[in-house]
Amino acid sequence: MFNRSIFTVLAAVLAFTLISCLTGDSDNRPSKEVTLSIIKPDAVENNNIGEIIARFEKNGLRISGMKMVKLNEKEAGDFYSVHKGRPFYDDLVKFMTSGPVVVMVLEGDDAIKKNRELMGATDPEKAAAGTIRKDFAKSISKNAVHGSDTPETAETEVLFFFKPEEIKNRF
Ligand code: CMP
Repeated sequence: MFNRSIFTVLAAVLAFTLISCLTGDSDNRPSKEVTLSIIKPDAVENNNIGEIIARFEKNGLRISGMKMVKLNEKEAGDFYSVHKGRPFYDDLVKFMTSGPVVVMVLEGDDAIKKNRELMGATDPEKAAAGTIRKDFAKSISKNAVHGSDTPETAETEVLFFFKPEEIKNRF
């Protein structure tokens, strides 16, 4: 009798585990996300596009949209409008319009966090060893890359640069 109960409980646990695996229905699984990445004018000028992209791909992020654009003052100002009024805003707009940038939609598990870890701190002097900003950026204002910081920002930023048909989902 006791043995049969144990067997029933074990069978139920096994079935639940199997169903969870098949449906991917688990609270702990990382969320599939998209994020916007910009390779800024300094990194483009220094020919670091390929090396930066390689870091994304080697760390499990996939590119689902990509283009090179040269922003005008209005576009750069609008993109960074959240910083309007801050002391660095004018220089930021000037820098972001100083040359072409590569904009990318990156997708993958926890893409927003992963991208920001790969980028490192905003100020390259404070960025951890092995991060993109540590290796390719010269200063806080010329810091090689930008990455969205929240899912909400990521959605807005992706739509700022890409029409839905320009993104090829690779999940
Ligand atoms: P980014 O991640 O693109 O977001 C805003 C940008 O403002 C930031 O990277 C920096 O390049 C730039 N910036 C310039 N000066 C500062 C500063 N003092 N604090 C934060 N960001 C700055």
